[in-house]
Amino acid sequence: MIDRLEALRAEADAAIAGAPDEAALRELEVGYLGKKGAITEVLKGMKDVAPADRPRVGQVVNEVRGAVESAIARRRESLEAARIAALCEDPTFDATLPGPVPRVGALHPVTQVTWHVEEVFRAMGFMLLDYPEVETDWYNFQALNIPADHPARDMQDTFWLEGGHLLRTHTSPGQIRSMQSFAPPFRAIFPGRVFRYERIDASHEHTFHQVEGLMIDRDISVANLIHSMKTLLGAIFEREVTVRLRPGYFPFVEPGFELDIQCQVCGGSGCSVCKHSGWVELLPCGLVHPNVLRFGGLDPDEWSGWAFGLGLSRLVMMKYQIEDIRHLAGGDLRFVAQFR
Ligand code: PHE
Repeated sequence: MIDRLEALRAEADAAIAGAPDEAALRELEVGYLGKKGAITEVLKGMKDVAPADRPRVGQVVNEVRGAVESAIARRRESLEAARIAALCEDPTFDATLPGPVPRVGALHPVTQVTWHVEEVFRAMGFMLLDYPEVETDWYNFQALNIPADHPARDMQDTFWLEGGHLLRTHTSPGQIRSMQSFAPPFRAIFPGRVFRYERIDASHEHTFHQVEGLMIDRDISVANLIHSMKTLLGAIFEREVTVRLRPGYFPFVEPGFELDIQCQVCGGSGCSVCKHSGWVELLPCGLVHPNVLRFGGLDPDEWSGWAFGLGLSRLVMMKYQIEDIRHLAGGDLRFVAQFR
């Protein structure tokens, strides 16, 4: 058996050294080392070798196999080197031409800003929660103090689904869901997509992004709210931004506010993003309405809270000076590629 192996080794060495190209080499590789290769066949004869001789024979088998493997690897390398050398001799081949540039992907700006906001809040001890995009009327409206006949429903034109379901028009249903799941005090944000049946233009989309924030504790006041919102915006913009606070009406907060930020695209002088007002509505917020606390299963005499609904799409537009919201979900890779 050892003789057979040594003969195979000599034969393989010669054949490998003489292999003219990669295809021939590959054929030899299969012929010797493959499942039905010559060396593999010899191995199958091991069972007929006397047990006392097996270690010695086994060692030779391994040696021969290793030798054939490395002969093939050496031959492969020299064939490749020869191929490149030949290419360099070819007068039509220009080694100085740049090669194909690999296409590198980019995170969507909405993803980048979402991650940043999440980081800011995580550092302030907020939980990060995720809630369904398909909601019920109860979570999206009724439990947020918007009964069926309430005029505030007109503020958010809704995509209705079968069976009384709807696409959530805001991230606020998460307020109720989180109050039902966590014992107070707690603080959380829930970012996500929201949907409205809207006429589309440079500042309106049917699908956009919000981040809802909720803090439930004892004795939460408007002072808490304002302080938190300022901290938040400073961290997000990484500089001082000019804001103004106006009273704002949302049935689920009392009192409610609209926090506007000076337009970062035009610097306040007026452009299409701020509809030539110099200000952009960015952060509606307020103290959680007692009815909403009740719907969430909390006693308003014991617990209080603030909530905000950050317009994430607007924030992205401010941050990157994007003049048309339709770019965000437009699917044009040339747009996304700018945010590498
Ligand atoms: N859910 C409201 C909207 O999308 C925003 C909001 C959230 C207002 C939380 C106040 C508090 O219009």
